[in-house]
Amino acid sequence: MKASVSTPNAGTPILLMAPFRGITQKSWRNAYARHFGGFNRMFAPFVTGVGTETVSFKKLTDLVPKNAMVSPTVPQIIGTNPKEIIAFAKAIAEHGYTELNWNLGCPFARIANKKRGCGILPHPEMLEDILSKTVHEIPIRLSIKTRLGYHHPDEILKVLPVFDKFPLHELILHPRTGKMVYRGKADVKAFAKCQKHSLHPLIYNGDIYSLTKFENISQQLPEQNTWMVGRGALINPFLPLQIRGISLTDEEKRTRLEAFHFELWHHTCETQKHESRILGSMKAIWYYMAGVFANGQKTFTKIKRAKTNTAYFEAVEAAFQNDFANDDALETFFLQLTK
Ligand SMILES: Cc1cc2nc3c(=O)[nH]c(=O)nc-3n(C[C@H](O)[C@H](O)[C@H](O)COP(=O)(O)O)c2cc1C
Repeated sequence: MKASVSTPNAGTPILLMAPFRGITQKSWRNAYARHFGGFNRMFAPFVTGVGTETVSFKKLTDLVPKNAMVSPTVPQIIGTNPKEIIAFAKAIAEHGYTELNWNLGCPFARIANKKRGCGILPHPEMLEDILSKTVHEIPIRLSIKTRLGYHHPDEILKVLPVFDKFPLHELILHPRTGKMVYRGKADVKAFAKCQKHSLHPLIYNGDIYSLTKFENISQQLPEQNTWMVGRGALINPFLPLQIRGISLTDEEKRTRLEAFHFELWHHTCETQKHESRILGSMKAIWYYMAGVFANGQKTFTKIKRAKTNTAYFEAVEAAFQNDFANDDALETFFLQLTK
């Protein structure tokens, strides 16, 4: 067990953007960093099936060239083959990356049932074997993003001593089990318990959806200073700035949101041919971002119904006229998502 730190939430918070496969690819991350900012680093969604030899360029498109990333970026891999993890680490190292994140949190059955993502957590001996074959063979630092367990929240207590044996760069913990997927509540108390059982400092991730909620979780975790924000930033892109004490007028917010949306729209039109595909990609963003407005659910319903670009723009222009959500409305919207 490590000695406890006495200063509550000391210093400026370090804020990390969580990865979201299908949403936070390079175009989203760059547009976000240009129009909102506030994150110290952004984690790229996981890459899978990279093979054990030469990693094909297709697997690296979200990550190269590194100097095209507006924000410092951390690549992520999912899988359990040490050779594959080493091959990917070497490939991204050649492109200038200094950290690889290993996904031990993905809860989806098709992944977890193959003992990948959080599916490996009930098997700490397997985890130890993979880490012992990997950590010292890769040319860059290894970090891990994980959960409390796959089936049970106490699986982590057998996993933390395994992590303790290795020089991990970062350990991000989302205090839900895999079976909960993204529903229910993140268990802040369970995270606090893990802090006491880990030699590695933990990074907190889960349910930071408003400034009020951030302050509430900070009070419960007085030693914590590094936070990963997920859906909270997809819903309200101003959240990291708010956490940093920067508040914008509604007019400034609207201008930035419109510019962000415009950039994503253009990028999507350049990369997708069919109207239905373009609208599908944009709706995936609005599924969360509609919640930045006071009447988030209604706003999303109108955008979701749009079947043509014209109908889509009518719905989006109407959305931009809405009032912004306060912290109560953000909570209502988030709880609706996690029901
Ligand atoms: C649609 C979707 C895609 C996700 N993709 C990834 C991913 O590629 N890698 C990862 O580590 N986590 C992924 N996550 C999990 C998030 O990064 C984050 O850990 C989770 O949403 C909990 O944080 P939050 O409560 O702040 O949203 C995904 C979650 C969702 C809902």
